[in-house]
Amino acid sequence: MRAQLVAIAASLVLTLGLVGSRTAYAAGAAEEPPDHDWKHTGVFGTFDRSELQRGFQVFQEVCASCHSLDYIAFRNLTEIGFSEDQIKAIAAEYEVEDGPDDEGEMFMRPAKASDYFPAPFANPQAARAANGGAYPPDLSLIVKARNNGLDYLYAVLTGYEEEPPGSFELAEGMNYNRYFPGHQIAMPEPLYEEAVEYADGTEATLEQLAHDVSVFLAWTAEPELEVRKQTGLKVLIFIAIFTALLYIIKRRIWAKLH
Ligand code: HEC
Repeated sequence: MRAQLVAIAASLVLTLGLVGSRTAYAAGAAEEPPDHDWKHTGVFGTFDRSELQRGFQVFQEVCASCHSLDYIAFRNLTEIGFSEDQIKAIAAEYEVEDGPDDEGEMFMRPAKASDYFPAPFANPQAARAANGGAYPPDLSLIVKARNNGLDYLYAVLTGYEEEPPGSFELAEGMNYNRYFPGHQIAMPEPLYEEAVEYADGTEATLEQLAHDVSVFLAWTAEPELEVRKQTGLKVLIFIAIFTALLYIIKRRIWAKLH
């Protein structure tokens, strides 16, 4: 009895500790990102192909001028619903470095479906030099790399303020953002209404652009999400049938023994 009480008390302390640390995070420098509605996050949720393709368009036309996407090859885009011909056409818009050739020189050639997304800068130093000393991180895994990454990403993209509030001192070349830790971010506001003309005719509001590109980056961070959920569902069905069978067998066996 005593030991049980101690165990309960210990788990209470642990839970309170966890809740406490979360409050401490919320009270930190940045506002906690509000919950946003996503289609793919529920137990059976899947990615919406139109959102993914629009998000890819936003990444390509806006984010890719500063951010790399190192872990995605053009051919991976079949998973978000592009046909092989579409992918060939997308890849052909890019040039990648190849080589060395017979003279030992590196050379540029049009990208193929098997190539990875070319980075906008040759190296981190060049990236920093072009961005006032700040480094635009690779976006492939950013949704996984940040606490509550998906809501956070959407919040940062929609959380810019033209004027910092009251006495806030904004450093030269920095921008005010409600959700970025410390509120000063070197990235200028990347999205605004009509920043992209959507291929499918969807109205490009700031919220729509931020939503779509966030969904796309959720996919790049976790492309296996749908397969994982399908496997989970199959396992659940299997366990349900197995339990039913066990129950029937148990009843049969005990029926003879009574
Ligand atoms: C003009 C260049 C530029 C463009 C365009 C741009 N970014 Fe950035 N981004 C930056 C820089 C620079 C940083 C680093 C900011 C810092 O550390 O203060 C950054 C940081 C970020 C971060 C990291 C925030 C964090 O928590 O560290 C995310 C996420 C991000 N960008 C997403 C995007 C998305 C999505 C787009 C396209 C809609 C985009 N960016 C377009 C330059 C850019």
